Amino acid sequence: MQPIRFNFRTICRHAAERGEQMQKRLLEALGARYQEKTLPAFGIERAAQLAGCTANHIRNLETRGDLPPPRTVEAGSIQRRIYTYNDVNAIRTVIGRQECRPDAASAVRVVFSNLKGGVAKTTMSLHFAQYAAREGFRTLLVDADPQATTTGAFGFVPDLDLGDGQDLFLALVEAPELISQAIKKTHWNSLDLIPARLVLQYVDWKLSQPKELNHPELGPPPVRLHRALDTVADRYDIIVVDTPPSLGMLSINAIAAANLIIMPIVPHMYDISSSVQYFKILEQVCELYEEEVNVQRLSILLTKVDNSTETLNNIAVINGAYGELILSNRMGLTKELQKSASDQISIYEIDQPRGSRDTYNRAIMMLDGVNAEILLAVRQHWQQEILTRMERATQGRSEAS
Ligand SMILES: Nc1ncnc2c1ncn2[C@@H]1O[C@H](COP(=O)(O)OP(=O)(O)OP(=O)(O)O)[C@@H](O)[C@H]1O
Ligand SMILES: [Mg+2]
Repeated sequence: MQPIRFNFRTICRHAAERGEQMQKRLLEALGARYQEKTLPAFGIERAAQLAGCTANHIRNLETRGDLPPPRTVEAGSIQRRIYTYNDVNAIRTVIGRQECRPDAASAVRVVFSNLKGGVAKTTMSLHFAQYAAREGFRTLLVDADPQATTTGAFGFVPDLDLGDGQDLFLALVEAPELISQAIKKTHWNSLDLIPARLVLQYVDWKLSQPKELNHPELGPPPVRLHRALDTVADRYDIIVVDTPPSLGMLSINAIAAANLIIMPIVPHMYDISSSVQYFKILEQVCELYEEEVNVQRLSILLTKVDNSTETLNNIAVINGAYGELILSNRMGLTKELQKSASDQISIYEIDQPRGSRDTYNRAIMMLDGVNAEILLAVRQHWQQEILTRMERATQGRSEAS
């Protein structure tokens, strides 16, 4: 009698095949999934404020045909004009107030990173990317976290709506330029997304294989995102990266690709302690990849800050240790954001607050404050880049003469 042989490999292959069929049936049963997202609408005064002109100016441009006729809604006996952030960008283009990076500067990469989970990396990277897009900057948001929470916030159900090639994977393991085909347009006309899927978890294992260590075209594993982003950076002003709560290959790639690192910390004892380990690892990454790492600034962003005495004491401790690294604006603990991750929604996109109007306004005020400070750091980075370039050119000329 033949012994029955347990063939693990065959079992895995069959299970994967059956799983794919199950996935298809699930899809059909769910009636598919992509939920189209929309932007909130607001009145002409707000549109004018965001665009940097007067409401009358917008009306005149519309009358002259320089802007398309506005959408309207009935408000009692009158038709009220309504606008979205996309319309505001169109207005800015017509009045010559479109924001963009200086010609001589390159796209800034802002990476939200921390070893620790649940510190608001996703929440803050999503809201910063949307804030930058709202201000009119051409923004790319990269979801480098296999959990794909950011991706979900744009209506995609990863692994159901998205297939091979529609995430970072191929750009990291096959060819840097494949990143281009992973870019998706979103409902914000100045915000593109590179989605994530669970398959990204495989990056760690794949990049630790010996043959990957010195790949002739792709380069060493930690610098592949950096090189991939270089191939599309021309199209953007700001690139924002959301990272997983670990220091695997995806996080290390994000750090090596960063110009600015924003490190969200919740001022609780355990979260503070993990920062020490994080800084030690960052130093090692810098030492190993000195040529490629170009981090100009690291800022600590205090998140989910409550008013308890314990939190205040912890903040005093953090201030003592990291003082100048800490952003002056903090993100307070707010009910408006408490459910935002599970509801997969950004509060820049909602019309109606889920709680009171006051709570909503306070949350928006805090977000705007934090995001404006990060944007200021981005502008400073551009200035610094131009200055460095000019200094090098002068130095080059004086050496040549
Ligand atoms: N300021 C805030 N106030 C209240 N809740 C918040 C705030 N910021 C984030 N949250 C909530 O905290 C939870 C974790 O946030 P988020 O997913 O952004 O963290 P993360 O660091 O990306 O987590 P992970 O490490 O798992 O990726 C979410 O439920 C989110 O809605
Ligand atoms: Mg996250």
